Amino acid sequence: MSDVTLIDGKAFSEGLRGRIGQEVIRLNKDHNIVPGLAVILVGEDPASQVYVRNKGKQTVEVGMSSFERKFEDDITQDTLLKLIEELNADDKVNGILVQLPLPSHINEATVLAAISPDKDVDGFHLINVGRLGTGDDAAIVPCTPLGCLMMLKDKLGDLSGMKALVLGRSNIVGKPMAQLLLAQSCTVTIAHSRTKDLANECRQADILIAAVGRPQMVPGDWIKPGATVIDVGINRIDAPEKGEGKTRLVGDVDFNSASSVAGAITPVPGGVGPMTIACLLRNTLAATCLQHGLKVPEV
Ligand code: GUN
Repeated sequence: MSDVTLIDGKAFSEGLRGRIGQEVIRLNKDHNIVPGLAVILVGEDPASQVYVRNKGKQTVEVGMSSFERKFEDDITQDTLLKLIEELNADDKVNGILVQLPLPSHINEATVLAAISPDKDVDGFHLINVGRLGTGDDAAIVPCTPLGCLMMLKDKLGDLSGMKALVLGRSNIVGKPMAQLLLAQSCTVTIAHSRTKDLANECRQADILIAAVGRPQMVPGDWIKPGATVIDVGINRIDAPEKGEGKTRLVGDVDFNSASSVAGAITPVPGGVGPMTIACLLRNTLAATCLQHGLKVPEV
């Protein structure tokens, strides 16, 4: 490894959650408000269960109310839509998140569209997607790209004029990430599975965001020397070196080779991952303030 800086998402997210906790205390003291976050989980997907458990725990730790609604995967779409309607009307609930993916008999777009845009702390509602795309300050921004942007600004300061490459075009990460970087006046390229000469595209980038879900796909020699690399991937791979049947987590970037070229890089685990829930809590705080006509605090 050269003199690469590790971007410590765990430490950053702990600081962020601490500041959110202070603002929650202030909201309670000055306005008698306790922000509430409702999370809906359908089915038994083990990764989703872990996420939802961690969300609930961290919501309570910052002083917010956590409402968890769990269902078998045979719940009907209508039942889910009725529940969302109830949560939309519930003053104690300021944020609503439906954990994805949903079972195939439920239409994800219909469910996401049913959440009130003001309580859509995931930022997936078309109104919030449109607000982000048009530079409207009222946009609630998806948590993972928001966390990436916070770390980038913390490391680099002003991003304007930088070349940014976003690898991946999902609605959850790639597309909103590109919009956020564009709003920071970066020159943005979105690359994907059909991009020609991907290595060369990556080598132009001062900022490289990898969000494709393919383990260790980006090698060090695709990275511009000194570039800042944000690895959104969380992939579990076999790790026979740790013993038979063992596994380990890796990102979309080959960390070892990338570390000898990049100026700064997020590790996996401990980079982007911990920022996502912290940003969800930040969005819940912001949504609560907006619903009460209060100024959204900088955290
Ligand atoms: N599943 C994986 N990531 C996410 C996310 O950011 N939000 C929701 N709702 N579901 C997810």
